[in-house]
Amino acid sequence: MNVAEQIVTGDNFSYSIFINSDLNGLAEKCKQIPKISKLFLITEREIAGIYQKFLEKEFRNLEIPIHFIYVKGGEKNKHHDKLKKVYEELISEKADRNSVLIAFGGGVIGDFTGFVAATFLRGIRFIQVPTTLLAMVDSSVGGKVAVNIDKGKNMVGAFYQPTFVFAPLYTLTTISEKDWRCGLAEIAKHAFLSGGNFLERLSQFTNSDFKGDSEAVRFGIQESIAFKASVVQEDPKELGRRAILNLGHTTGHAIESLTKYEKYSHGEAVAKGLVTALLLSKKILGFSEDHLAHALGLLRGLGLSVKIKEKSTDILEHMYSDKKKEGNNLKFVLLRDFGQPEYGVSVEPRVIIEAIKEQKAMDLF
Ligand SMILES: NC(=O)c1ccc[n+]([C@@H]2O[C@H](COP(=O)([O-])OP(=O)(O)OC[C@H]3O[C@@H](n4cnc5c(N)ncnc54)[C@H](O)[C@@H]3O)[C@@H](O)[C@H]2O)c1
Repeated sequence: MNVAEQIVTGDNFSYSIFINSDLNGLAEKCKQIPKISKLFLITEREIAGIYQKFLEKEFRNLEIPIHFIYVKGGEKNKHHDKLKKVYEELISEKADRNSVLIAFGGGVIGDFTGFVAATFLRGIRFIQVPTTLLAMVDSSVGGKVAVNIDKGKNMVGAFYQPTFVFAPLYTLTTISEKDWRCGLAEIAKHAFLSGGNFLERLSQFTNSDFKGDSEAVRFGIQESIAFKASVVQEDPKELGRRAILNLGHTTGHAIESLTKYEKYSHGEAVAKGLVTALLLSKKILGFSEDHLAHALGLLRGLGLSVKIKEKSTDILEHMYSDKKKEGNNLKFVLLRDFGQPEYGVSVEPRVIIEAIKEQKAMDLF
């Protein structure tokens, strides 16, 4: 059943994001793609293990040939070295310029498949079918596709928009707790950036409301997608305002790299980074104490831990290896108020240390 549709439009692209309760209707939408010769569904064996029979049922009456390509999951496999094998399989299976790829999985599969689509035969069409909360609210929207190289994450990529996005909510019933938290942190980020009704209503739900295909999940996903789409439409290539989507990420990335990407998932680190950004917003842009308390209540309600255990100086050191610096100062996305973000705010290292120390000293969860 179709739950909602959001259209994303830019100067030279326009596509729909369908939020669906299950996979019903995906094959019909594929058939409507003009001049399609063959479909290639790229996924992980583990995800296929859960959803293969649903996919086979959905594609049973498809009049277009379909071939499944299985790749290994995990960040280390979203790697440039893994592309050759997929390009070769596409060639041996006679993919041509009218072939269409389907990315069926989380952000790893979406980014990787999108990159294959952007580069194979100088670009073929692709569909995003996100199956994690993070992929639904963040990575499948906006057309950023990339693979990792040994020197860094997402270092080789493109802005390449999908033909459409189809988010089947029932796939969320099988993701892990950690992956829920990852997506919830990004939903909270979007709500802080957006403010208004999105934030107000989200604040009324609690962690236990966010399960499977519930009202809270539908609301969080729909509002997040609508908000991200509005930002992407305005600045598809991140030349300006799209940078606001990095709220919480300067500290988040530093904590992730400091703990060698092993201790926290991306979203868990971002949740902590959101609080640092709000403490800095209070010091620098006059973000109110009441709103800080509201934000902490929402993050607690979503079951996100925001306590920082790492040393402030170690976090700062890792921030410097990131690229957003100006002299000795670092660039942050901060909030003047909910719904009023500012990007490229230059912050002195002394103030960053103060904010992290304050966060460490707070009685947090
Ligand atoms: N392109 C962008 O704009 C953008 C934005 C944010 C993040 N990203 C990228 O997204 C990636 C992270 O995405 P993610 O958090 O979805 O991680 P992921 O793709 O690794 O998925 C997380 C885990 O969930 C499993 N999984 C996926 N769907 C499942 C399902 N329905 N049921 C059970 N298990 C399932 C996967 O096998 C994996 O083990 C990173 O590579 C990050 O760089 C991209």
